[in-house]
Amino acid sequence: MRILLLGSGGREHALAWKLSQSPLCEKLFIAPGNAGTAHCGTNINIGVTDFEAIKNACIENEVDIVIVGPEEPLVKGITDFLISSPALKNIDVIGPGKNGAQLEGSKAFAKAFMIRHNIPTASYREFTLENYQDGVAYLQQHALPIVMKADGLAAGKGVVICENHLEAIAEYDLMLQRAKYGEAGKKVVVESFLKGIEMSVFVLMDGKNYVILPEAKDYKRIKEGDKGPNTGGMGAISPVPFATKALMKKIEEKVIKPTVNGLQKEGLEYRGFIFFGLMIENDEPYMIEYNCRMGDPETEVVIPRLKNDLVELMVAAANQQLDTIKIDTDPRTACTVVAVSGGYPGEYEKGHEISGLQNINAEDSMLFHMGTSGNNGKVVTNGGRVFCITSYGRSVFDAVEISKEEMGKISFAKMEYRRDIGYEFQ
Ligand code: AMP
Ligand code: GLY
Repeated sequence: MRILLLGSGGREHALAWKLSQSPLCEKLFIAPGNAGTAHCGTNINIGVTDFEAIKNACIENEVDIVIVGPEEPLVKGITDFLISSPALKNIDVIGPGKNGAQLEGSKAFAKAFMIRHNIPTASYREFTLENYQDGVAYLQQHALPIVMKADGLAAGKGVVICENHLEAIAEYDLMLQRAKYGEAGKKVVVESFLKGIEMSVFVLMDGKNYVILPEAKDYKRIKEGDKGPNTGGMGAISPVPFATKALMKKIEEKVIKPTVNGLQKEGLEYRGFIFFGLMIENDEPYMIEYNCRMGDPETEVVIPRLKNDLVELMVAAANQQLDTIKIDTDPRTACTVVAVSGGYPGEYEKGHEISGLQNINAEDSMLFHMGTSGNNGKVVTNGGRVFCITSYGRSVFDAVEISKEEMGKISFAKMEYRRDIGYEFQ
C-alpha cells in the first residue's frame, strides 16, 4: 500500500508511527507532517486544505489510500473531491464526505441528528439573527449555567459556559450581532449544562460495519487541577478506569449503534473515524459532541494500545470489511503528557531549539511530535503544543510517573507541562 496521511500534529505522528510498522505499508507520505513524522515516512510540504496540490501528490506518488487526520479538510469536502477526481479512479479515502463530516462541522446538525435518533444529549435550541429576540427570551428563563456554542468550526474555541444570564446574553450578542466567530457563529446552539465526568470513545466505520477502539480521557485545561483556559489537550489516559464493560455496553447500545444506524438511514456515506465526546452521569452516557476524526492527544494513547495492524484496519474500512476484524488491545495503561510553549493557549514564541529528544527510554515510552519542525539538523518548536510523551504502566499512576520522568530529560525555552494528568485516578 502507498499511503498518504494528511496532518501535522501528534495525532498524525502516532498514526504514522503505527502505519509504518505494518508489512503492508510499502510507502508512507505525510502532508505536511512534522519533524517526528519525517522519521516514519516522507513529509510533503502541502497544506491540508490545498486540495489541488493533494490530488497532484496522489497522482505523482501513485497513492492507494489517503487517511485524513484533522477535521478542516473533511468539513471542506476533501473526501468527495478526491473520490470524484477522474485521475484518481481507484483511490480510497479514510474520512467521511462533506455530508457525514457535518457531525463535527455543524453543532446544530449534530444536535438535530442526535434528537432524530434518540441519542441521549442535553436539551437545546438554535438561533440566528432571524430569531434573535426569541433567543434572548429563551436565555432569560434558562437554568444556569448555560452552554453556548458557535455552530461551525471554531478551532476548539467556540464553546462558552455562562454562569449568569447577563453574561449569556452578552456572549449571545457577541456571536450573533458582532460575529465573534465569523461565519461559524452565524448560528448559535444554546444547550443545558451536563454534569458528570467526560470521556471519549472512538469508532472506525466502513459505511456499514464498525469497530470500537480503546477509549480515552483527555485533560483540556492548561493548568493543574483542571484550572485555566481550555487547550487542544494537555494529556490523556487510556483505558478510562471507570469505563467498565457494563458502561461500554450501554454506550454501544445507546450512542454508537443509533449513530451508525442513523448515518446509514440518512444516506450519509461514512468511512472513517467517529469520536464520541461523552459526559457520564450516574453511569449513564450523554453525548456532548461528535468529531469526524480521531482526537489529539487521545490518539497518542489509543494507538499505542492498539495491537492490530493499522494498515490492515484502514484497508478493511475502505473495503467495507470491518466485520472480519477483531480489535486486540494492549492491557497496559497508556498515559501521555503534553509539553507546550509558555503562553499557550494565548500568544507564544516559536523557533526554540529542543534538546534531549534522543534521551527517551524507548522501552516504556515514546515521544510524539506535535508542533515541531526541522531546521538545519536541529528540531525547533513550531506550535503551542510541541510534543508529548506516552508511557505504558500497570496503572495510571505508574504510566504518568514514567512520562514525567522522561519529560525531565527534554527541554526548550519556556517549556511547560501538567504534572497531574490522570489525577482523579491516582
Ligand atoms: P465541544 O467543543 O462541544 O467539545 O465542547 C468543549 C467542552 O465544553 C467539552 O469538552 C465540555 O467540557 C464542555 N461542554 C460542552 N457542552 C457541554 C454541556 N452541554 N454541558 C457541560 N459541558 C459541556
Ligand atoms: N482532544 C480533543 C480533540 O481532539 O478534539
